[in-house]
Amino acid sequence: MSAGSSLHMAYRRAGRVTSRQIWAGTHYSTKSRPSNSGFTRVTKYIAGAGVVGAPGLWWFANGRNEVPPHLASPESGNLAVARGPSREEVTRMISKEEYSFLPRDGGVNRYDGTRVASNSPTEDRYIHGTFPSPWKDGKTWMAWGVLDGHAGWQTADLLEKQLVPFVRHGLDKIKSPSDQISDEKVSDTIKKAFINLDESILKTAVEASQGNLPLQDKLANLAPAFAGSCALLSIYDPTTLKLHVACTGDSRAVLGQKNAEGKWEAIPLSVDQTGDNQEEIARLKKEHPGEEEIVAGGRVLGIMVSRAFGDSRWKWPVDLQKDLKKKFDGPSILMPKYKILTPPYLTAEPVVTSTKIDPSKPSFLIMATDGLWDNLSSQQAVDLVVKWIEKPTALSKSLTEPKYEPYDFTKYEWKEEFDEKRTTVQDGNAAVHLVRNALGGNHHEMIQGRLAYGTPFCRSIRDDITVQVVFFHVPGQ
Ligand SMILES: *[C@@H]1O[C@H](CO)[C@@H](O)[C@H](O)[C@H]1NC(C)=O
Repeated sequence: MSAGSSLHMAYRRAGRVTSRQIWAGTHYSTKSRPSNSGFTRVTKYIAGAGVVGAPGLWWFANGRNEVPPHLASPESGNLAVARGPSREEVTRMISKEEYSFLPRDGGVNRYDGTRVASNSPTEDRYIHGTFPSPWKDGKTWMAWGVLDGHAGWQTADLLEKQLVPFVRHGLDKIKSPSDQISDEKVSDTIKKAFINLDESILKTAVEASQGNLPLQDKLANLAPAFAGSCALLSIYDPTTLKLHVACTGDSRAVLGQKNAEGKWEAIPLSVDQTGDNQEEIARLKKEHPGEEEIVAGGRVLGIMVSRAFGDSRWKWPVDLQKDLKKKFDGPSILMPKYKILTPPYLTAEPVVTSTKIDPSKPSFLIMATDGLWDNLSSQQAVDLVVKWIEKPTALSKSLTEPKYEPYDFTKYEWKEEFDEKRTTVQDGNAAVHLVRNALGGNHHEMIQGRLAYGTPFCRSIRDDITVQVVFFHVPGQ
């Protein structure tokens, strides 16, 4: 990028922030800056000075049509200094969607969650809640899920509503008493439910495109097939103490568990399904013999995940795609850049693990979309939650903050990843705590900087982040 064009970018960015600051002043600190109060003052001045002619009066009565007053000096060319998020604003941004529940049931003491958007609107969705045991034994099961949409929010949004109902429908059909039901049976049922739901998404889209619905309804049914989503769903059976984790895509579930020596271990409950996963590469090569170039640079025909819902471009025959592109302005066909010879190349079938939660060992489950894992390893996340459990909030707040050098993004590269020394424990919600520490911890300029841009500039600094933390048998929680 030349100096000229980067200057131009800087100007446009400043412009964006400034106008938001003025017209939606509540988003930013108003200290030492004219923003809203300046606006009021100017309005009063016009009214009070009695210089309002007929058009001015009209403007005054119709606030929405008023031309913005000068807040800065056009002669000097200086705009008022825009403010990024304050510390309080950072806390608000990472915790405004927080939730926390205390089921105290079946060994689950508590669970916390949050979501921080980068895309606007966010493409992440999440699920949490209970449903009656499919074994009809009067127990209550629990479910947690994170859904990371891509190329739109439409698939993730549909999964938020339909994924658990599809899984429940499958489980409800298993009749035998729970002690005779193998993990394989449960896991196969969950896999089938995921596959059935994805087939329904694709079938619904094709049928809608061919039917007599009004155009807008056809498009609403096509969108979840055109967009895509990862799905990570955990289901807990309090009778068998089994935690079943189903993973389609690259969201990740990790169990933190205290072993006999008192050390907390990070036990993976899912493996990221991406073009970097050797088992996935081998599977794809076996399913598509002779198509050696399917996986390149960690991507499957250009997409990072090797399993996903929706994403019809990797699933439908090319002719169907061409037809839908023409008639309904569907997404561009991957050809000729990639060869679509033997679709489908992506599957929604999850890899399922079943883990017994040992009631004699305190443990917790972390579920998160890749926005968190891009900036944190599984062990780092477990260690952070352990610090959150062990350190009383009030105490850590009083710890003195280290002094940091002024920050800019040249320092922000993979080598400047998560640093344990930046850890801070100041949030009452364990999921918010993980997000804060993944984004900079006690390095305030770093976290404020990483949250300062809105869409689209923030997307190269952070992804949508959704986190859930579930505590099993953790004393004090
Ligand atoms: C954090 O994650 C984002 C994507 O979610 C990535 O672009 C960035 O490089 C990561 N930064 C660090 C410091 O790990």
